[in-house]
Amino acid sequence: MSSIVARKVKFEFPDALDDVLPGAAPIDETYLVAFSLTMPYLEPYLIRTFRACADRIADVELAADLRGFIAQEAQHFQNHRRVNEIIRAQLGPTVAAELQRIEDRLDADYRRCSEHKSMRFNLQYAEGFEAMTCAMAMTFFDRAAAGVVSADGRFGAWQQLWAWHAAEEVEHRTVAFAVHEHLCGGWARRAVGAACAQWHFQRYITRLQKVLLASQGLPRRAHLPGWLRDGRGRYLRTFLPGYDPAAIDPGPIAAMILAGYSGA
Ligand SMILES: [Fe+2]
Ligand SMILES: [Fe+2]
Repeated sequence: MSSIVARKVKFEFPDALDDVLPGAAPIDETYLVAFSLTMPYLEPYLIRTFRACADRIADVELAADLRGFIAQEAQHFQNHRRVNEIIRAQLGPTVAAELQRIEDRLDADYRRCSEHKSMRFNLQYAEGFEAMTCAMAMTFFDRAAAGVVSADGRFGAWQQLWAWHAAEEVEHRTVAFAVHEHLCGGWARRAVGAACAQWHFQRYITRLQKVLLASQGLPRRAHLPGWLRDGRGRYLRTFLPGYDPAAIDPGPIAAMILAGYSGA
């Protein structure tokens, strides 16, 4: 049995989400909103990728971990989809329509990948994305330290959503890498594939973030993800030949956050 379990969580988001774009750190805030907007397209794409290759996995433990991974990602994007609707409603129909046009292109890209790209391509994309999100989540935890360690109501649902999501990304950090190694392998192709995947993903984040920045009365400028300021070394190590997410010490925070939710 896998230690990666699905926690069926349905966050209750108030219609007046005043902690999503409070304006204190608009670049980081719009980055997180942009990231959230991509989840209902990116995470179903990951699920399609892994469902398509699940029958080829001979390792029983890895197959069980993959089922846990898929179940977790399904929970993630459903919660993001719900909060995204509230955020779009708050931003108004003009901004929402501009965002939706970008989201539709991203969805179309991922559907084309599922239909026409090779298993190796899709596994490289998935592993590259997961390596990046693990580095991002670990960096969030370093930054927040004791500030987000419990889901006890001290923080709004938006922060709790991200804490829970980041904690599960850390929990299932080994799965995409292990499936890639099991079915494809090859450091150089993994690293190049991951770089291409992240380039593709980041371009969409930038497009969405520019719209969001403009909606807050700020210039439509591209920004590097803020977490890279603190997490650059951790992120760059994901491209090295010796990278292995199983060797990453997850620290105590992810487990402390997840202890607040029951697994199924
Ligand atoms: Fe996720
Ligand atoms: Fe993930």
